[in-house]
Amino acid sequence: MITVALAKGRLATQSTELLEKCGLKLDELKTDTRKLVLFDNSGKYRFVFVKPSDVPTYVERGVADFGVVGKDTLLEADKDIYEMIDLKFGACRLCVCGYESSLKNAGGILRVGTKYEHVTKEYFGVRGKTVDIIKLNGSVELAPVIGLSDVIVDIVESGKTLEANGLKVLEEVCKCSARVAVNRVSLKTKKGLAELLEKIKENV
Ligand code: PRP
Repeated sequence: MITVALAKGRLATQSTELLEKCGLKLDELKTDTRKLVLFDNSGKYRFVFVKPSDVPTYVERGVADFGVVGKDTLLEADKDIYEMIDLKFGACRLCVCGYESSLKNAGGILRVGTKYEHVTKEYFGVRGKTVDIIKLNGSVELAPVIGLSDVIVDIVESGKTLEANGLKVLEEVCKCSARVAVNRVSLKTKKGLAELLEKIKENV
């Protein structure tokens, strides 16, 4: 049995479609169900849908053999897992955003609202900038608008949320997309895993 952790939300549909292209029959995954553990039609593959930020944990701990999750989430989680395939979908950028003059006008300590505490610390750390990181869990663009932070570090996909709130990309931290991240032990020991990963590569 191969267990796959899939990120709930924006990557879920494309992840499922890709696995179908690889020959898996995933009828149960397309039903409207509250079940947390689902199977492919053959019963050889087991799927868990979890919060994106939990995917690296499931994979690192080996309860999932691999997961599909955004590069942004992998960077933030910083787990000992093998990032193996860039799936190209879910493309977005992790950026420092704010008002045009936010970086210039901030005092000695830059207040940064973000879901990505680790990435933010690293990004400004190597640039020698002292930051006050304000951890948020969503609607991050609100922070500079309402004066909670000077800037934010967040993902930008279409740019519509920034635009609607009068904000701009000030700096790009990195480009992101969906990745396949694999448990290191599973890769060596799980029968059929390498073959499935090869099929995924072919179907990207
Ligand atoms: C993400 C991100 C931005 C938005 C960017 O939020 O945090 O707010 O999408 O997308 P856009 O550039 O296409 O507008 P998400 O929708 O995941 O919800 P959240 O606010 O709860 O984090």
